[in-house]
Amino acid sequence: MIKLPGLIDPHVHLREPGATHKEDFDSGTSAALAGGFTTVLAMPNTKPPIFDKSTLDLALDAAKQKARCDYGQYIGAGPDNAAIAASLSGTAAGLKMYLDSTFGELRLDDMSLWQPHFEKYPRNQPIVAHSESRTMAAAILFAAMYDRSVHIAHVSLKEEILVIKAAKERGIKVTCEVGPHHLFLSKDDIPAISNGHPGRGEVRPRLATKEDVDSLWTNLDVIDCFATDHAPHTIEEKDGENPPPGFPGLETALPLLLTAVDLGRLTLDDLIQKMHVNPRKIFNLPEQPETWVEVDENATYEIKAADQFTRCNWTPFEGWKVKGKVTRVVLRGTEAFKDGKILVQPGFGRNVRI
Ligand code: DOR
Ligand code: ZN
Repeated sequence: MIKLPGLIDPHVHLREPGATHKEDFDSGTSAALAGGFTTVLAMPNTKPPIFDKSTLDLALDAAKQKARCDYGQYIGAGPDNAAIAASLSGTAAGLKMYLDSTFGELRLDDMSLWQPHFEKYPRNQPIVAHSESRTMAAAILFAAMYDRSVHIAHVSLKEEILVIKAAKERGIKVTCEVGPHHLFLSKDDIPAISNGHPGRGEVRPRLATKEDVDSLWTNLDVIDCFATDHAPHTIEEKDGENPPPGFPGLETALPLLLTAVDLGRLTLDDLIQKMHVNPRKIFNLPEQPETWVEVDENATYEIKAADQFTRCNWTPFEGWKVKGKVTRVVLRGTEAFKDGKILVQPGFGRNVRI
């Protein structure tokens, strides 16, 4: 048995309010616990998006009633909410800026709309940017100009990881995360994932080339966090017209990464740094006393959507053989998950900002 600290996922989409048929705070935090995560930070591209006091309250009220693990809620950067977002920074997980192609309404194309957010959002609170390729370089420029940190979400390209490395070497305050799907899947896997349904391969950022994937592994030391970008859409939606982009990830991230540890692709200490130590530091998260995750490192099994707690009912990793299974999770002294069962009730989870 291996004992890990409570894992932190700083990037999940829990779909509440507005799309609870895909996921809600109950099903999403159950999936988190089953996946070894004891803290999740929820993204604001919900319906309505979380962008002011009343929408933040809507999400936080639902989370308070329903979350089974600890949580934080991001506020989204809109065209005219910089002052409001800054005033709510104490109760939000951070500010999320959508600067590239995404799902939902929160997108800021014009760089003049980024400025008030970088000016006003408190320097000691996280800004997370969905920014790809050259947009990412622009977000890093903003961090340098405003002398504050920026966290780059879901890095997927070689050019991105190399620019982040260079920016870090020059003292710019940039951190980044990579999603398991960008570490374990490339464009070449799309036909197998799609299985005749092209919508299943859709995710933003898109799956990249094998060379991009290899560069992420080569530059593991530049990656601060692994974050799932758990983005559940139902299998019917993925297979329908206008399939929304996104992959679920909460229940597959740890087994995939433990399998990589078993194969010698990273160390267990790398995993702990990127799934607990660094996210805790970057997102100023409180300590969870008496909290740990027990893993049977020798258990071998097949990933199956049917075994998951997420409501979306599919996974791009269906049928993958993995080694390493979460057997028990203890959160703040209470047994929260054991042998496939969630043992804490909705409402057990706490807001990390209170
Ligand atoms: O694939 C994605 N899904 N990329 C995003 O930027 C948003 C996310 C979602 O919310 O479904
Ligand atoms: Zn996301």
